[in-house]
Amino acid sequence: MTEETHVQGPTIRPRRLRRTPALRRMVAETHVVPSSLVLPVFIREGLAEPHPVSSMPGVVQHSRDSLRRAVTEAAELGLGGVMLFGIPEHKDATGSGAIDPAGVLNLAITDVVAEVGDQLTVMSDLCLDEFTDHGHCGLLTPDGEVDNDRTLAAYAEMALAQAAAGVDMVGPSGMMDGQVAVVRSALDAAGHSHVSVLAYSAKYASAFFGPFREAVDSSLVGDRRTYQQDPANALEGVREVLLDVAEGADIVMVKPALPYLDVVRRVRDAVDVPVAAYNVSGEYAMLEAAAANGWIDREAAIMETLTSIRRAGADVILTYWASEAARLLRR
Ligand code: PBG
Repeated sequence: MTEETHVQGPTIRPRRLRRTPALRRMVAETHVVPSSLVLPVFIREGLAEPHPVSSMPGVVQHSRDSLRRAVTEAAELGLGGVMLFGIPEHKDATGSGAIDPAGVLNLAITDVVAEVGDQLTVMSDLCLDEFTDHGHCGLLTPDGEVDNDRTLAAYAEMALAQAAAGVDMVGPSGMMDGQVAVVRSALDAAGHSHVSVLAYSAKYASAFFGPFREAVDSSLVGDRRTYQQDPANALEGVREVLLDVAEGADIVMVKPALPYLDVVRRVRDAVDVPVAAYNVSGEYAMLEAAAANGWIDREAAIMETLTSIRRAGADVILTYWASEAARLLRR
């Protein structure tokens, strides 16, 4: 054995602040808190029992009763809110179930507001794709293009139906040009100026939405590339966000989250409204699949995921792990 070489040790040692759990806690720059988490939930018309979504282990399509239980638990855990998605029994070309006051989503809003409306922010997806038989987010022209401006009129009606059901915040997610302005002015003109708008502003045409399409029994054939953004574009995401702020968005969102953390950061630096990020179905499914195989430490990976989205600049995170993360934070 050779004699050890003696070096002059460093004076500045970042490791000093990592020595004990208390030190590490004290200097942590980023915190995940239950109040910043929003749980997306699916409710399917006509279900007597919750129905598992196979591509998203642990996620279900809710019945009316199981939805009440899930949101009660979310409230007890101190989450910031819930985002409701409805799956109707019957779909048609115009997505009329979205506007029907007795449609599955509007009834769910009423149920959830009655149950936990004083404790949680109740949010609803404002988009036609779950309600149309072709699965697109808007109305189609005779040659099958998504018709931006006719879709806007449908979104305005949908916003009014959701506001009448008592929603706190609507989430226009269809990526039609001008959707935030139309929704805002429809709400205001009908006396719903208190209803806020969470704009899905920078929403990408992403493969990471795959499992969601099963969760909502999507009828989509083809893709959404003529309205959702090209994954190659970050500046364009900032442009979309700035337009939505100018149109009256109260919160802007980037979606998906993990493959677009650079966009989350750019957006956080560009605006002075809260920024949300949607930790989408494919991000959930990847981690769950790896954990089910014993390839990753599931709970640690969940918390690291949520921490990274907050660190990138998200104030609010929509995540299927919201309730579980809140439970983990209690420990
Ligand atoms: C559209 C909508 C989608 C998601 C949320 N809202 C799907 C899509 O645009 O195809 C995806 C959410 C997820 O993947 O978790 N209403």
